[in-house]
Amino acid sequence: MPRLLLVSNRLPVTVKAEKDQVSVVRSPGGLATGLSRPHERSSGVWIGWPGDVSRLSAAQRTRVESQLSELRLVPLHLSPSEVSRYYEGYSNRVLWPLFHYLPDRVPRQDRDWEAYAKVNERFADLVARHYQPGDTIWVHDYQLMLVPGLLRQRLPEARIGYFLHIPFPSSELFRSLPHRAELLRGLLGADLVGFHTPSYVHHFSSTLLRLLGLETDIDHVTYEGRSVRLGAFPMGIDTASFESLAHDAGVLEEVRITRERSAGQRLLVGIDRLDYTKGIPRRLLAVQRLLEREPTLRGRLRFIQVAVPSRTAVEDYAAYRDKVDELVGRINGLYGSVHNVPVHYLYRSFNERQLVGLYRAADVMLVTPIRDGMNLVAKEFCAARPDEDGVLILSEFAGAATELREAVIVNPYDVEAMADTIHRALEMPVEERRKRMQALRAQVKSRDVHWWVSHFLDTLQSVPTPTVRSVPGAAEAIARLKESPRRVLLLDYDGTLVGYTARPEQAVPDPELKKLLARLAALPDTSVHIVSGRFREKLEEWLGDLPVGLHAEHGLWSRSGPGAPWRMLEGVSPEWKERARPLLDTFSSHVPGSFVEEKTASLAWHYRQADAGYGSWQARELRLKLCDVLADSPLEVLPGDKVVEVRPRGVQKGRVVAQALEGVAPGTLVAAFGDDRTDEDLFAALPEGSLSVHAGGKTSRATHRVNGSVEVRKVLAALLEA
Ligand code: UDP
Ligand code: G6P
Repeated sequence: MPRLLLVSNRLPVTVKAEKDQVSVVRSPGGLATGLSRPHERSSGVWIGWPGDVSRLSAAQRTRVESQLSELRLVPLHLSPSEVSRYYEGYSNRVLWPLFHYLPDRVPRQDRDWEAYAKVNERFADLVARHYQPGDTIWVHDYQLMLVPGLLRQRLPEARIGYFLHIPFPSSELFRSLPHRAELLRGLLGADLVGFHTPSYVHHFSSTLLRLLGLETDIDHVTYEGRSVRLGAFPMGIDTASFESLAHDAGVLEEVRITRERSAGQRLLVGIDRLDYTKGIPRRLLAVQRLLEREPTLRGRLRFIQVAVPSRTAVEDYAAYRDKVDELVGRINGLYGSVHNVPVHYLYRSFNERQLVGLYRAADVMLVTPIRDGMNLVAKEFCAARPDEDGVLILSEFAGAATELREAVIVNPYDVEAMADTIHRALEMPVEERRKRMQALRAQVKSRDVHWWVSHFLDTLQSVPTPTVRSVPGAAEAIARLKESPRRVLLLDYDGTLVGYTARPEQAVPDPELKKLLARLAALPDTSVHIVSGRFREKLEEWLGDLPVGLHAEHGLWSRSGPGAPWRMLEGVSPEWKERARPLLDTFSSHVPGSFVEEKTASLAWHYRQADAGYGSWQARELRLKLCDVLADSPLEVLPGDKVVEVRPRGVQKGRVVAQALEGVAPGTLVAAFGDDRTDEDLFAALPEGSLSVHAGGKTSRATHRVNGSVEVRKVLAALLEA
C-alpha cells in the first residue's frame, strides 16, 4: 500500500489550554472520530489544525508538538484571524449552512472568501512539503475544497482523493455562491471525488453540467485532459470497537445503573453536536407533544439529550443554544414533578465508553437532523446493541437513511408525526424490534469504516490518471509542425478556431483569424482546409475570399478555392430528412431555448441555450426516439456539442481527407484540429503518422491536446514565426 497523507481541517485530537493546564483531547465530529482508527492502522501522516495554541508557552508548545508527532499528526496552526475568517467565517457561516439547505443563515455568500482561499493555499503548501513520490493524498471536507486543485498545480502526477462529509446540495442552491466555479475547479483537481450518497453525487454532477458545462459519463468527467471519477462511498464506523465496548463489564455496569435510576420509565436518547442542522428543537417539541397528548406517559418518560458544544463563537450556534435551553426549561416546567423531569439535558462531550453506555441503555434512539451528510451516531447505536433491542428513529434527511432502511424513518419537520412515531416505537413488539435491529446491525457490520477506507482508496488507485496525463500538448504540436517542410492543415471551425457563442450565427470570424488563415495559406508547401458542419452559404460568406479549401455540412459540400464551384458528394438523398423533422420540431417546441437548424441533407437540434440539465436529458430522449423512427433509413443520429444532428450515413468529416490529399507530395504532414465528436471522424481517417490535435477536455483519439481555440491559434501562429 502507498503511504497515505490524510488532510482535514481538524486533526483527530485538539489541544485545549485552560488556565495553566494543557491537554490533548478527542476532537468533536464524525470526521475526526471516524477516521481515527484507520489512521492508527495506517503508517501515514495526518495534516490538520490542532486547535488554538496561541496561549501556550514555548515549552508547552514543544511538548504538544512532540505528542502530536508521536501520533503521526502534522499541525497546521491557524492565526486568530484565520480562525475567525476561514474557519468560523467562510467554512461555517457560508458553506456549512448553504450545503445544509439553510441559505437564510448565510450572512453574505462572498464573506471571508479571501481568507478561505489563503488558508487552502497554506494547506496545499504544507501537504506538498510532506509529499513523497508514490504517496496517496486524501483531502477531506468542505473546509478544504480548493486544496485538490492547488495540489494538482504543485504535484501534477500525484494521486489525489477528496471526500465530502456533508451533503452536496442541489445546483439551485450551490449556484448562489459567487465563487462557485473556483470551488468546483478546486474539487476537480482530485482523481476521485467521493460523497456519502448517490443523491449527493447526482447533485454534484448536475452542478458540473449547469455551471461548467461538463457532462458526466456514467461515473467520471473529463476535465483538463484528466479523468475525474465520482462516486458514492457511505462512511461507516469502527463496528468491532463499539461492539466490544458494548460487552465491556464496566460499560454494562453503567447501563445497569442508568436503567435502575430510570426504573419505571422508558428511556429516549439523543446525542448530537449542538448544531442547528441536528433538529433538536423539533425533537423536543415532538416529546412535548407526546406528553401533552398522552397523560399516561407523564412521569414515565425520560429523554436524555447530549449536546456537545460546537463552534460557539458563531452567532447562530449561540442563538441555537439559547433556543434549546429555553425549550428544555419549558418542557420540564410543564411536565416535571418534584421527583423527576422528562428532559435530561447535558451540554458537554462524552467519551466512547460513556456513549456506548447510553446507546445500550436506550429504549428509543432519536436521530432526527433536518439535514445531515451521514450521521455516524445512528450507526454507532446499532453497533452498540448486541442484545438486538432498541428502536432507531431516523430522519429521512440524514445520509444514513439511504442505508439504514430498517430504522423507523421520519420527516423531522413533521412534529405531530414524530410524536406518533415515538409513541409507536415505545409500543413496538419485541419481535419487530429484534428483526429490525438484526437487519440494521448486519448492514453496519458489513460496511464498517475499514471497508469504507479500502473501497475509497482502491477506487482511487484504479483511476487511470498517468496515461491521460501523458498526452503531449501545444509545445510538442508546434515542434512536429515546424520540423515538417510540407503540410496540409485540416481545421474545424466552431470550438476550434473560434469559441462557442449562444447562437451559431454569432460566431463571425474576427479580423485576426482571417489574417492568420491567409498567412498560413501563403506559406510555401502548405494548404489549409476548413472542415465544418456549417452551411456552405455561411462558410462562403465568412471565409470565401480566403485561398483555402472549404468543406461544409461535414464534407457533404466542398469548394477548392475562391471562385471555384461548390460540389456535393454523390449518391446522397436529402429526402429522408423529412422523416425526422416532426420529432425535432416537437422537441424544439417543448424545450425552451432550443431550435432546429436545417441543412441540405441534414437537420440539427441545438440546445446550447436551454437549461443545461433538462437539455442534455432531452437530447438523450431525442436520440433514442430518432433511432426508432430512422431504423430502416440511410440516416444516422449524431450527438455533438449541445446539438443532436441527423444526417445521411457516410457523410462525415473523414470523407474530406482523401480530397484534401489529392496531388499532395509524399512526406507531407497532415495535421487536423478539432474539438467535437464529429472531428473524431476526421482524426480516424488521417493517414498514419499524422498529427491530430484535440482542443478541449473531452475524451479524444487525438495524438495531442490543447486548451481550446486560444491555444489552437497560438499553435498555428507559431508556424508563421519559422
Ligand atoms: N461523539 C463524541 N462525544 C459526544 C457526542 C458524540 O465523541 O459526546 C461522537 C460520536 O461518537 C460520533 C461523532 O461524535 O462519532 C458525531 O458524528 P456524526 O456523524 O453523528 O455527526 P457530526 O458531529 O459529524 O455532524
Ligand atoms: C462535521 C464536519 C467535520 C467537522 C465536525 C466538527 O462532522 O463534517 O468536518 O470537523 O463536524 O466540527 P468542527 O467545526 O468542530 O471541526
